[in-house]
Amino acid sequence: MFGLTRARRTRGRRTAAALAAGAAAATALLAAPTAAADPRPSGAAPRPVVGGTPTTTTAYPFVMQLTDDAGNQFCGGTLVAATKVVTAAHCVAGESAAKLRVVGGRTYLDGTDGTVSAVSGVWVDPSFADPTSGDDVAVLTLATAMPYTPAKYVSAQDTGVYAPGTLARVLGWGTTSENGGSSNQLRTATVPVVKDTDCANAYGSDFVASDMVCAGYTSGGVDTCQGDSGGPLLVGGVLAGITSWGNGCAAAGHPGVYTRMTTFSSQVAEQVAA
Ligand code: ARG
Repeated sequence: MFGLTRARRTRGRRTAAALAAGAAAATALLAAPTAAADPRPSGAAPRPVVGGTPTTTTAYPFVMQLTDDAGNQFCGGTLVAATKVVTAAHCVAGESAAKLRVVGGRTYLDGTDGTVSAVSGVWVDPSFADPTSGDDVAVLTLATAMPYTPAKYVSAQDTGVYAPGTLARVLGWGTTSENGGSSNQLRTATVPVVKDTDCANAYGSDFVASDMVCAGYTSGGVDTCQGDSGGPLLVGGVLAGITSWGNGCAAAGHPGVYTRMTTFSSQVAEQVAA
């Protein structure tokens, strides 16, 4: 959602700018130039998310699109109860609930299937300021219950999910290359969890280990990207992270940064129960 890395969207989607204006200030880091060339040998996995494969909301029924009131997707989210969706704070901070919609059961951005719900409540972590300071978590309350199986999310003590090298799954409709276009079809990829010390080396003080976890290959090539924010990072099928930020997309040495869900799971649970 960062202004400087969000340029050039397909289908005239300009909504992220409006909806994430509050996050646009976030750091010169994110203005980094172009992604490194794809380091993978030719014949490697197809590119999508960057470097993944197409999938469906039938396979991942809890993956939600966040759209504006005109239906333009700008972020993802995860259904964790029939009327509760976990997303990134930077996707919705400062936005009025009246302008937000959540779409479930719709694999394609240009589809008309699935369930569209208005948003009756927006909880943003009260400490949130910008993604590189942490606290990038929000919970939406839906006006209409989603008839899809929600995802489980980690509890505070499940920190083992972040053991370095653990393979995590990411999902979204975001751009399939840095500065590229969004994907009409939901995509998924798997990326290994990166050691906190390695992530701190990559990002310095912008990496707040208590609130963030990194995932990606040292050589890059596979990552979330613009438009994937708010969507899930799953470990063993359980929500363990929220797509938050990164320096470019899929660049070698700059893994994706995700909200460390264990840190926020009791706050999220409170909101889910509210
Ligand atoms: N901030 C982006 C969004 O709003 C997500 C960027 C993720 N970047 C990355 N390199 N993993 O969609």
